[in-house]
Amino acid sequence: MVAGDLDRCGWQRFAATPARRAWAGYACAAALAWLETGDPAPLWRYGGTWSPGVDALDNDESGAVAGSGPLPRPKAPSPGAPGLAKVPLHKAQLSVLRPGYPRAPDGESPAAFRFRQHRDGAHLDGLLPIGPKRRRMLREPHAFILGLPLNDTGPGASPLVVWEGSHRILQGAIGAALAPHKPATWPDVDLTEPYQAARRRCFETCRRVPLHAAPGEALLLHRAVLHGMAPWEDGAAAPPEGRIVAYFRPTTTLRTWLRD
Ligand SMILES: [Fe+2]
Repeated sequence: MVAGDLDRCGWQRFAATPARRAWAGYACAAALAWLETGDPAPLWRYGGTWSPGVDALDNDESGAVAGSGPLPRPKAPSPGAPGLAKVPLHKAQLSVLRPGYPRAPDGESPAAFRFRQHRDGAHLDGLLPIGPKRRRMLREPHAFILGLPLNDTGPGASPLVVWEGSHRILQGAIGAALAPHKPATWPDVDLTEPYQAARRRCFETCRRVPLHAAPGEALLLHRAVLHGMAPWEDGAAAPPEGRIVAYFRPTTTLRTWLRD
């Protein structure tokens, strides 16, 4: 199994451990209960094939959920993932994907839907569409993105996809676009054009890597890496509930986001 390297590739895979596999079992049981009776209920998008599940896992700041004990966090080079070892964790996102993803547009333009189908909906986390013109601004700088698969699926069950090395291109482009502005105004700087130009460069020059993983493994993404979700392949193996992954994305400062 390819391991990656956070600094060079923008992603890193950590091998399964018994402790993390046990944690995934507790979290999966909590996720299944949430899918059955959750309040708020899962919000199904793209024709019932994706529920983003933001803040859906009822874990505490250590990652403990339903008696699991703290999340066994991977040990990573800290500069590229500030706070990974000890930052308090928010309630995890529970991303649930089901056969057919993305089955139908979700109130978006035909071009945006095609992008989701053919470019895996590639995006940079935290770069939010602001205002009626949906201009991209870096309003939610994350320290890192940590993905923890909660159930077993086949490799074609809409895996996470990354563009290897794209974190350096995007971080550089956004840093250059923010540099002429005072730091206090950075959250309001329109990054739409530099982001789109840098994203095109990533598509042209970076290798697209699907990251299929199993419960007990951990996938660490650099906060600036371009990533998305592949369309579901016909016949991909998955349990009836679909593919479930818990994501932790603690926020940090913009200054930290631009470093390392
Ligand atoms: Fe994302």
